[in-house]
Amino acid sequence: MDRNKTVIEVIDGGPLKISGSICIVEKQGGKPEDKREVYLCRCGKSASKPYCDGSHNS
Ligand code: FES
Repeated sequence: MDRNKTVIEVIDGGPLKISGSICIVEKQGGKPEDKREVYLCRCGKSASKPYCDGSHNS
């Protein structure tokens, strides 16, 4: 797989797994964070949105 490509994978019943070149900018401001892999909540239950904290399993 092309390492420069950003890939979004839908995990069945869970988060979106995003891998590649990623920059997270939070709405409240703060320093943008560069990452290579993140899991973003899409169930609405996470206490640490936008990230998945595993609450989708409960
Ligand atoms: S998808 Fe995992 S907590 Fe929402």
